[in-house]
Amino acid sequence: MNEQIQDLQQEHQKFISDLGDWKRSHDNGSLNAGDMGKDVCLMGWVQYRRDHGGLIFADLRDRKGLTQVVFSPDHAPKAHEEAHILRSEYVIAIRGTVRERPEGMTNPALPTGEIEVVVNDWKLLNTSKTPPFPIEDRVDAGENLRLAWRYLDLRRPAMQANFFLRHKVARAIRHFLNDQDFIEIETPFLTRSTPEGARDFLVPSRLNQGDFYALPQSPQLFKQMLMVAGFERYYQIVRCFRDEDLRADRQPEFTQLDVEMSFVNEDDVMGMAEKLMAYVFKNVLDKDLPLPFPRLTWGEAMRKYGVDKPDTRFGMELEDVTDIVRGSGFKLFATAPLVKAMKVKGGESLTRKEIDDLTEFVKIYGARGLAWIKIREDEWQSPIAKFLSETERKNLAERLALETGDIVFFQAGDPAMVNAALGNLRVHLARKLGLIDEDKFNFLWVTDFPLFEYDEEEKRYVACHHPFTQPAPGDIEKMTTDPGHTMARAYDMVLNGNEVGGGSIRIHQADEQMAMFEALGFTPEDAREQFGFLVQALEHGAPPHGGIAFGLDRFVMLLAGASSIRDVIAFPKTQKATCLLTNAPDKASPAQLRELGLKLCEKPGTAGEKKPE
Ligand code: AMO
Repeated sequence: MNEQIQDLQQEHQKFISDLGDWKRSHDNGSLNAGDMGKDVCLMGWVQYRRDHGGLIFADLRDRKGLTQVVFSPDHAPKAHEEAHILRSEYVIAIRGTVRERPEGMTNPALPTGEIEVVVNDWKLLNTSKTPPFPIEDRVDAGENLRLAWRYLDLRRPAMQANFFLRHKVARAIRHFLNDQDFIEIETPFLTRSTPEGARDFLVPSRLNQGDFYALPQSPQLFKQMLMVAGFERYYQIVRCFRDEDLRADRQPEFTQLDVEMSFVNEDDVMGMAEKLMAYVFKNVLDKDLPLPFPRLTWGEAMRKYGVDKPDTRFGMELEDVTDIVRGSGFKLFATAPLVKAMKVKGGESLTRKEIDDLTEFVKIYGARGLAWIKIREDEWQSPIAKFLSETERKNLAERLALETGDIVFFQAGDPAMVNAALGNLRVHLARKLGLIDEDKFNFLWVTDFPLFEYDEEEKRYVACHHPFTQPAPGDIEKMTTDPGHTMARAYDMVLNGNEVGGGSIRIHQADEQMAMFEALGFTPEDAREQFGFLVQALEHGAPPHGGIAFGLDRFVMLLAGASSIRDVIAFPKTQKATCLLTNAPDKASPAQLRELGLKLCEKPGTAGEKKPE
């Protein structure tokens, strides 16, 4: 059957004609009862063709919608006769007259559902092979097939809606910032490494063999130098490149809205950023965001939610119960540096199998198990209940406000593990139990981050944000004497449990920047070698400055209600960072390698994924 259609499609190519002087009069989403009797010219793709008692109906689709067109043997016999060749996704132009749909044939779900266009004449502009999946919103094709045929996937109305939304967001952002006296400036892609905590993508230089450019992980250093240059208020919607392991909310190349301002403190940057969000929400979704956004210190966020990007659309806050179980008969609780509990109201109905699955889930975060207690009318049902004394039970019941029907989960051990395991379990369970109001948009700021975190692998402190963030007032000395307790002038914007933006007030004095590099383990020579250009800029009248960058793809994903940022990026990469449409990355020819002065030391591997047929 398929082959037959492909043969026909070949055969039909001889009927293809040029647009000639035909001009489109309307799009396919706008005609309605008010247009009755008008002569129109429409163009688009054939969604369906149906033959009914002598009439041929086609739904004509373009980016604005669908219009039903009718080929009638009585009205225009030649046009009708020729319409027998129409197939899905053929591209056509029709000229015809708008008329009312017959009684009982109207479609209230469609803006054009009251009318149809009866065709006087039409042109075949192009044929189409049968697409590998239907061009409609409900598609059960796997994502790899959709990515391999991305231009067809993007033709689907749901995908088109995502990109119109993205466009509106970008337009609103530009409008707001232009109005606030910001200036958009581009910065280079072929540059030096900008340490944002990921691996760099390197580009070999032909003219300087043996040297490599790094693609920017962000325009961080350039925007700071634009402040030194006196631009004061800069923004850019810009591509960033990070060679990191991919997840649903990460891509190797992604887009930031990058902003920097001079002569400002935290409140100035955060105030601007939340007004920008409110403007975008009003402009794009017609929603009012209450300002200012709530603020939570990093310490509070970790204490209550176990993560630094809490989802506050539901409760289930974590409770520190270390003091209550300090002398417990349960050895693990008695000796662990931190014991935290999370109550799930009415969660007593979770089955053993479900609890086992949750136990597997927390193991991802380094937990060895998951302790739990079900609060029953007559008893506390739990493998650990027998170890708990009366006083411990009473104190737990009081602190956690326990009621019959609840379940409590516990995690004990190293604080980072306890927080990660329970914090992520909190979100996982809320999703599973349907406790999240998906219509809510909960913004908040997380502030007062530590400046450094200890990297166990590298056995040294690394910057939590990036090495250009200023320590909190009074903490400059501590950078070298007590790095673990130095706080940063950094802030993250969180939306529904996702980090949508992050920024900081920057170091603007050269000495302080050198002290930061020292704290990170650089020798002064290494620091000058890698960042000499920045330090030099700071030595030449750098104003106090700070800024923020938003993950535009992530933000649009949340606004669109999409579950992956791939759905709001036109040509995204797979989990293995490949492009299934173009088959990138690909091998370089021996001649190209020679020109670059490169020799592969290992036999090139075969690409991990191939384009699905
Ligand atoms: P940061 O590294 O926090 O800060 O990045 C800012 C925002 O970019 C988004 N983001 C990503 N989105 C998709 N895929 C990725 N791989 C990815 N990585 C980050 C997140 C994040 O909040 N130069 C600093 C900003 C500054 O200090 O002004 C920076 O890049 O939403």
